[in-house]
Amino acid sequence: MIPTVEWKNGVVMMLDQTKLPLETVYQECRDYQTVAKGIRELWVRGAPAIGVSAAMGLALGARQVQASGFDEFWPKFEAICAEMAATRPTAVNLFWAIERIKRFVQENRDKGLDAIRDLLVQESQRMIDEDIATNKRIGAYGAVFIEDGDTVITHCNAGSIATAGYGTAEGVMRAAVEEGKQIHVFVDETRPVLQGARLTAWELMQEKIPCTLITDNMAGHFLFHDRIDLAIVGADRIARNGDVANKIGTYSLAVLCREHGIPFYVAAPLSTIDLSTESGSDIPIEERDPREVTHVFGKVQIAPEGVAVANPAFDVTPARYITAIITDRGAFRPKDIQKLSDTGLDPETFRIK
Ligand code: MRU
Repeated sequence: MIPTVEWKNGVVMMLDQTKLPLETVYQECRDYQTVAKGIRELWVRGAPAIGVSAAMGLALGARQVQASGFDEFWPKFEAICAEMAATRPTAVNLFWAIERIKRFVQENRDKGLDAIRDLLVQESQRMIDEDIATNKRIGAYGAVFIEDGDTVITHCNAGSIATAGYGTAEGVMRAAVEEGKQIHVFVDETRPVLQGARLTAWELMQEKIPCTLITDNMAGHFLFHDRIDLAIVGADRIARNGDVANKIGTYSLAVLCREHGIPFYVAAPLSTIDLSTESGSDIPIEERDPREVTHVFGKVQIAPEGVAVANPAFDVTPARYITAIITDRGAFRPKDIQKLSDTGLDPETFRIK
């Protein structure tokens, strides 16, 4: 597992995933503006990875604020938080992480600015450690759904580098392999940014998990020919009613799985569940640069000059297509996700496994 993001002597090192798999390059971020640019430009992407990167960016930002006391510090720090929150709109982990950091700063306001700056570095590191532990729990809860000999299909990249480490959807596969199960993974290439081809295939090969790369439009063919046993994907935001926003193309795969009677699982930490969003239609969908569609890697043009382009980065899979949502507290039916907010209700009572 290579680090996705780390703090090294006052510098945030971000794995530049736009260069993978051909080069493994870390971008050195010396200010929060560079971290924000890195999130916007997908150096680091994937919901949990975006969250922890933002937290580290805010630790840098706190060091950049010039203030003589907390009252002068706070509005300037809030402005940095707002800038960080404007980087990407869909993955709720970004906002979850920013809110956690803001709360943390307020809780420590009496300790003095130097102490707050040091504590923020520790807190963002704690978020990284917690995310890895969370993903291992998701893996353990999810591995029971994979049987020895199964072929899994996945979309986008919900692997180690989409998180602080270990991965969510890929963490479930990793956990199954760690339990001694033999699996094979079909990897959707994931147009237009190719997170499947560039990142998931690369990560699975590093882990020596057998995989086959396919273009997105081949999934139906392999499902039709009984070559796939289950689908597992990650999530960018899960609404209260169990609808899931994830990388564009996830919805089509879920519908195909339903048609072929194949279970469709979503693996995500609790920080991806947004109980304040009622349903999938309330989730903001990021629209990205048309060049991602008209050009390969922003360089080779593959479409006529001036063609109209739509490029939504995510779609919503309605809860009815999802067999279970695998979280760090267990696997739940999508309709039961809202019960996680009902204090006093033991998840044991509605956990599937
Ligand atoms: O645009 P991206 O690469 O940030 O989109 C990532 C995804 O859609 C992932 O599947 C999702 O964030 C889950 S990552 C554990």
